[in-house]
Amino acid sequence: MADSLVIRSATLDDYQGVMDIGKLYDGLDYLPVQYEKYLKRFNCYVGEIDGEIVAFHADRLVDAGVTIVNAAARVKESFQGRGILAAILKHVRDSYVNQKTVKYETMTVNNVNVHGERIKRKFTLLLERILVELIGDVGDFNPNKFESDQTAVQELTSEDLKKIFQSKDTCSRLFPGERIVPNWYPYRLLPENIPLMMDWFKFWGTKISDQSTYKTLTVTEHFHLGEMLIFKLCIYGNDVVDIQQHCLKHIQNLNLLVKMGTCTSIIVHITYSLDFQDTATFLSMFEKCGFKINDDLHHNRMLVYEREIK
Ligand SMILES: CC(C)(COP(=O)(O)OP(=O)(O)OC[C@H]1O[C@@H](n2cnc3c(N)ncnc32)[C@H](O)[C@@H]1OP(=O)(O)O)[C@@H](O)C(=O)NCCC(=O)NCCS
Repeated sequence: MADSLVIRSATLDDYQGVMDIGKLYDGLDYLPVQYEKYLKRFNCYVGEIDGEIVAFHADRLVDAGVTIVNAAARVKESFQGRGILAAILKHVRDSYVNQKTVKYETMTVNNVNVHGERIKRKFTLLLERILVELIGDVGDFNPNKFESDQTAVQELTSEDLKKIFQSKDTCSRLFPGERIVPNWYPYRLLPENIPLMMDWFKFWGTKISDQSTYKTLTVTEHFHLGEMLIFKLCIYGNDVVDIQQHCLKHIQNLNLLVKMGTCTSIIVHITYSLDFQDTATFLSMFEKCGFKINDDLHHNRMLVYEREIK
């Protein structure tokens, strides 16, 4: 099967063919609204068999040219399990063969990925994070339950992030596994990654009272899927009270987005460290604002894998 596979760069004209690969992620597929953004930021490929697009893949070189991040992969259901993704991944690795800096390949998968055991044979698990999904109707959203200290949580600049990455102490406290994973892409804590990340995500921080080290860092991204607002929040740190402050800030931010747009429902995806135990406090804040936790979510873990390729 993989023999008749033609792998080529994806273009805007492939939009429909890529969408026809299938409906993914229970109606929460980001690609229909972010396809153009992916083409601009990533190396995107389609896999074709007899002229039919059967696969899509996106990668990006990060960590100052050291790591290939596999950022998106999908294969048409009737073509799955026949080595198509494996062939595309080889194609991606081969595309960097002349780039001497490249040493690692990385990707993030969820805990229900059917290839989990196969992935473990070749890749090392770097870190695991918990994923919680909160669902709310705009009509039930009541953000005014809390007084927010708007000044405590500040949006970070690239200079702020640079300082954070330079501090070994802050990094070891905030980033287990020495990676930051805004949404689902892992980055080493290197200044070279800052422009790549800032191009897509917003970073928020609160400092310890001496004003030199950071206590909590959160990363956010949002987009609309039809009338649904999708808000992604990644939490780094373990201070319960401080994390509450961040959640208050983001609830206020959600309120602004709701007021600006025409959405009728909101989905919030929160990821946080496996070590962080006291989650009830901040999750209950979202519940008090009208959100419900999706207890049926099976893919409630984010697993970051890496392997050395040279
Ligand atoms: C995951 C998916 C893309 C796999 O495609 P496929 O063509 O059926 O996969 P293959 O037959 O090539 O087997 C998977 C191979 O890719 C590897 N792999 C690398 N990244 C992977 C990933 N994110 N998910 C699954 N397998 C992955 C596996 O280890 C395996 O390689 P191996 O045979 O050398 O061990 C496909 O099942 C799919 O589209 N699923 C729905 C969307 C999805 O879950 N995408 C992944 C997002 S992380």
